[in-house]
Amino acid sequence: MNATLLKRLFRAIQSGSAPDVEVLCRRIVEGEKRVGHVRIAQDLEGILKQSRASGPVSAPGLLARMPTSRRDSAPLLQEVSVDQLRHEMVLPAAVEKRFQRIEKEFAARSRLAKHGLKPRHRILLYGPPGCGKSLGAERLAWNTGLPLRKVRFDTLLSSYFGETMANLRKVFDAAQASPCALFLDECDTLARSRMERNDVGEVTRITNGLLEMLEHHRGDGLVIAATNLDSALDTALFRRFDEVLKIPLPGIDEIERLLHVTLSAMETDRALAWRDLAQAMDGMSGSEVVHVGQNAAKHCVLEGRKKVGDADIRHALLEIHERHHQAP
Ligand SMILES: Nc1ncnc2c1ncn2[C@@H]1O[C@H](COP(=O)(O)OP(=O)(O)OP(=O)(O)O)[C@@H](O)[C@H]1O
Ligand SMILES: [Mg+2]
Repeated sequence: MNATLLKRLFRAIQSGSAPDVEVLCRRIVEGEKRVGHVRIAQDLEGILKQSRASGPVSAPGLLARMPTSRRDSAPLLQEVSVDQLRHEMVLPAAVEKRFQRIEKEFAARSRLAKHGLKPRHRILLYGPPGCGKSLGAERLAWNTGLPLRKVRFDTLLSSYFGETMANLRKVFDAAQASPCALFLDECDTLARSRMERNDVGEVTRITNGLLEMLEHHRGDGLVIAATNLDSALDTALFRRFDEVLKIPLPGIDEIERLLHVTLSAMETDRALAWRDLAQAMDGMSGSEVVHVGQNAAKHCVLEGRKKVGDADIRHALLEIHERHHQAP
């Protein structure tokens, strides 16, 4: 049996992620089938079927406490296992400092409590797409050691307002019962699903409900929300968050550093004009810069060369520009 898979299974059990446990169990069964262990695969499959029939996979402690939706008992949270958390970020110094301040305050929470103070724990990340909002949440979880639990809007949202609110309540209750970095990624989804139905009144009610839960939340972990909608940032929101952190498009310095980080596993031409290339990428998102770096590295390997040069990066840049022009 695959050792990595086994380790992941144990981590999933330890972190209480029922969906991960289920997926990993199924992978183990498939793996056993592939290597011809038909008997053991059948036995394992039988056990899985039994446990599904008797309710969700359960383990002592956390698994039992993971909230599920009112209507169909679907999981409302998805836990990202620690070994999947990414935490290397390239940010302007001022933004990096604010991330570090959140992490330092969390580390010093007991000391702060002695003076009646609380660390910043309600954090809103906003900014253009592909610049590190989701990555930022992973990094905060990594640096605070909190498990990252993502709210699953697909199961949380119901066509009934009451149910959506009950699900949201369960999510906040769970975060209070067991400290975590509760992550509402692309939290505008909450409002958007109603806007599509032209239900302006309900958008307001859901947003207000969320804000109220946020305001009264007393959990020991973090609540992190992310959005790229500037319009979602009204004064009511600013008031409810302790930290509103804008993650901007990378500047020339950040683009250059990101390119270095992306190409760090490759040899590069000594004459590579990093600065000029970074300038040619001005206006790109972090995600696009990473793509350019990766595609340049691939181009170099496929061309049978050892060192990534200007030509590889220019080639990758051309490709991304062409893609933009093709986009509808
Ligand atoms: N500041 C950054 N530092 C390092 N890598 C970055 C940064 N910004 C983006 N990236 C790269 O781009 C990818 C996408 O970033 P991420 O998903 O965090 O963007 P986002 O702001 O959440 O975008 P969206 O608004 O589309 O959800 C990351 O996985 C990473 O590879
Ligand atoms: Mg994102």
